[in-house]
Amino acid sequence: MAQKVVGTGARSGAPVVCVIGGGQLARMMQEAAIPLGIELRALVEAEDGSAGQAIPYSTVGAADDRDLITGWVGGNVVTVEHEHIPDPILREIDSRPSADALRFAQDKLVMRSELEAPHPRWYEATSRAEIDSSIAALGGVAIAKTPTDGYDGKGVAVVRSAVDVPWEYADGERILLEEKVEFDMEVALLIARRLSGEMKAWPLVQSTQRDGICYEVIAPAPVDQALLDRATEIATTIAEQTGVVGVLAVEMFVVGDRLLVNELAMRPHNTGHWTIDGAVTSQFEQHLRAVLDLPLGDTSPKAAWSVMVNLLGSDLEDPRQALGAVWEADPGVKIHMYGKEVRPLRKIGHVTVSGDDLESVKARAHEAIRILEGK
Ligand SMILES: Nc1ncnc2c1ncn2[C@@H]1O[C@H](COP(=O)(O)OP(=O)(O)OP(=O)(O)O)[C@@H](O)[C@H]1O
Ligand SMILES: [Mg+2]
Repeated sequence: MAQKVVGTGARSGAPVVCVIGGGQLARMMQEAAIPLGIELRALVEAEDGSAGQAIPYSTVGAADDRDLITGWVGGNVVTVEHEHIPDPILREIDSRPSADALRFAQDKLVMRSELEAPHPRWYEATSRAEIDSSIAALGGVAIAKTPTDGYDGKGVAVVRSAVDVPWEYADGERILLEEKVEFDMEVALLIARRLSGEMKAWPLVQSTQRDGICYEVIAPAPVDQALLDRATEIATTIAEQTGVVGVLAVEMFVVGDRLLVNELAMRPHNTGHWTIDGAVTSQFEQHLRAVLDLPLGDTSPKAAWSVMVNLLGSDLEDPRQALGAVWEADPGVKIHMYGKEVRPLRKIGHVTVSGDDLESVKARAHEAIRILEGK
């Protein structure tokens, strides 16, 4: 269980990384830190949460507790596993990525207005009347988004009028309205940028969402080389423009031969979980290397295809009881459980299967998830 960290110095000569956030991303960062002997410390929401269970040097605290965070960080390298840290705190602690970079991932209106990249058509509205006129300008239907604090499809809705906005909205508040893109596919390009500038990208992946939540990821995305190259170019430009340090995920829509940027994340990302088992260097190890300013690792895939599927809730009380059943059926499945309690549509784990034939790899991953779901 979590130990109280006393002082800020390392207990040895090990590099120290402090991570703000106690979810599965910090937990999987610990999986990468262990073989490297890196001392990972997490600021967690709960001692027995996903990361608290796995990281002995965890401190319980809120991501907006300025006094706690500045003391906890000391002079150590600090990174994040989510975007919900107030900007002034990020500036005080010299985070990697920096506050200036993270703005693009924290605020979708900042991203749309300041990022030099191809975007869907969009408007900013600050009143119900402006929401309605923006929807009209977009052709009668739009995607409404809260600029900040959205995740897993929360804060995203299809709207035909201001009354359709499903969260509390008061005149004066900023809201993003954008065209409802009829995409052929959703893709993500993950790239890591080291503090001193070196960058390495993984292959483009295809992601499929269920109820706005990432569900299935196929690596590499089944698209032609020209699109793969264009996606890498867009992400590289964004990494340079924002000065991100660590892993950057660029979510994009494919429309014919065009790519439109949907949103950015500046941390390991769900669409990169396949790299743990399917790439030479995982996104979690690469993130640690990048924030510590160490040379980046090889991002090549280890197999022709890898498919990752999320376990979103389960009918089983504890799906870990079904590990045996999955492996009786298919001993090659890689299973990752996050130590989280089952709740409907909650991300509680994922599986990855790699191999030569996409259809069979996909079928095997979905069969494993069916068993873990208790269906
Ligand atoms: N303009 C759009 N047109 C069509 N579909 C969209 C659009 N914007 C978002 N979506 C759909 O909604 C999903 C969630 O949207 P988005 O990624 O912006 O929100 P989020 O909740 O912040 O997501 P995340 O969990 O990735 O942080 C997208 O993956 C996509 O399927
Ligand atoms: Mg998204």
